[in-house]
Formats: sequence, structure tokens, C-alpha cells
Amino acid sequence: MKLNFIAILIFVMVSQSVFSISDWGPTGHRATGEIAERNLTRRAKRKIEKLLQGEGLAFVSTYADEIKSDRNYREFFPWHYVNMPLDGNYETTEKNPKGDLVTGINHCIKVLKDENTSDKDKRFYLKMLVHLIGDLHQPLHIGRKEDKGGNTIQVQWHGRGSNLHRVWDGDMLNEWDMSYMELANNAKDLTKEEKKAIQKGNVLDWVKETHNLAKEVYGSVKSGDKLRYRYSYKYFPVVREQLQKGGLRLAKVLNEIFG
Ligand code: ADE
Ligand code: ZN
Ligand code: ZN
Repeated sequence: MKLNFIAILIFVMVSQSVFSISDWGPTGHRATGEIAERNLTRRAKRKIEKLLQGEGLAFVSTYADEIKSDRNYREFFPWHYVNMPLDGNYETTEKNPKGDLVTGINHCIKVLKDENTSDKDKRFYLKMLVHLIGDLHQPLHIGRKEDKGGNTIQVQWHGRGSNLHRVWDGDMLNEWDMSYMELANNAKDLTKEEKKAIQKGNVLDWVKETHNLAKEVYGSVKSGDKLRYRYSYKYFPVVREQLQKGGLRLAKVLNEIFG
């Protein structure tokens, strides 16, 4: 009996440290949602507000993580990431038959563009889309299959056990301790032209760009590294830039659907 309990305890501890439970973490997703909301056209903003019945893009951005532990929504789990070799690309990599980040995003866009979709379904797929475009900008959501996007690369974060995926999902953001509003308010001031340049391209172009960043991130640590301030001095600005890119590109996609 006691042995069973210990076995379960060990299993829970190991599984929590191996698999990240919540992507960018609520603060990162909300910052992306907030930045997107500020870049919507008036028409898109009006339509989205009506659909979401008072909830903002920041608020709904975490929905896809909230349903992750619900068995009824199990089919959506593979949508949160896409794995590929560091020297590969999406087109030539063997696909997960259950879907991935790219098929998930494309499905959301298709359903939202279909005028026969009910408002209830539109609401669901809009919430998913807001989240998934955020995930698309977390470099380790486009990581290697063999280490589950850095989840099995154990490192220490300020003296505590963590893993590379978790450092990028939440550890750096949590350490900085800024609210999503502070992150959005302090995002880099960009000219119209700079925003346009970021919004250029399509989902696959953005996958390629984030995948390139993933290569750098994999090279930034080795298993067992003790990461502290020096790591976030270097990479927290990258996290902030990714959240801003995610927000601007989400706005572009939503403006195209609802504009
Ligand atoms: N989260 C869970 N499994 C993952 C994987 N294989 N790649 C990235 N993120 C994940
Ligand atoms: Zn994650
Ligand atoms: Zn996610």
C-alpha cells in the first residue's frame, strides 16, 4: 500500500518535470492576445467582440490549455506543437497523423471563414486560433521529436529542477514577473513599415522562422546546465520579441478572416 503510494508520487513528480503542462504560460499567451487586439481593424474588432460576448483576446488565449486535461478534447492535444529535425523543414518531415500546430491553425482558419459555421463553433475555433498562433512563436513548440521539444532536456533554473522547454514556456516570464498588460504596454515601438515586415508571409514562413530560432535555443544549453540571470539577460528580450511577433501576426490572420 505504502509502496504503491510512493510509486504514484514518484510517477507524478517525474511526469510533471518531464512534460510541460502549459505552453507559453498564461502571461505569454495573454500578452500575444492583447497585442493582437490592439492591431485589429475596426471591423474585425467589432465582429470578434460580438462573437466573444465581452471576453477579450487576452482572456480567451489560454482556453486551449484549460481544456488540455479534459478527455473530451484529447484530439486537440497534438495541435499545440509540431516536431521536426533541426536540419529539416515542415514540408519534408513525416507528419503526425493526428495533426499538428500547422494543420490545427489551418483548420481553425477554414472553419472561421466558412459562413455556415455556427457562432458556437466559431467561438471555439477562434479561441483555439488565438492560442495556437502564440504557440507557433515558442521556439520549442517547433522542436525535435526525440526530446519532445526540449521537455526531456533537464536543466536547473535558479537552483531548481526544470527543463529547457519549461524555461522557455514559463520560467523566464515568471521570473520577470510582468503582467500581460505590462508586457503589451512595453512592447517595442514599431513603425508601420516594421509591423508590415513582421506580418509578411504565411503560417509556413513563420514556422520556418521560429524553427530557425529553435536551432539557436537548442545550442544555448546542454543537459544539466545551471541557468540563472545570464540566460534571461540574453534570451528574455527574445521571448518578448516572439510574443510581439505572435500578436502582430495573429492580428493579420484575424483581420483577413473578419476584416
Ligand atoms: N509538448 C508535449 N510534447 C511535445 C513535443 N513533442 N514537442 C513540443 N511540445 C510538446
Ligand atoms: Zn510548451
Ligand atoms: Zn498550447
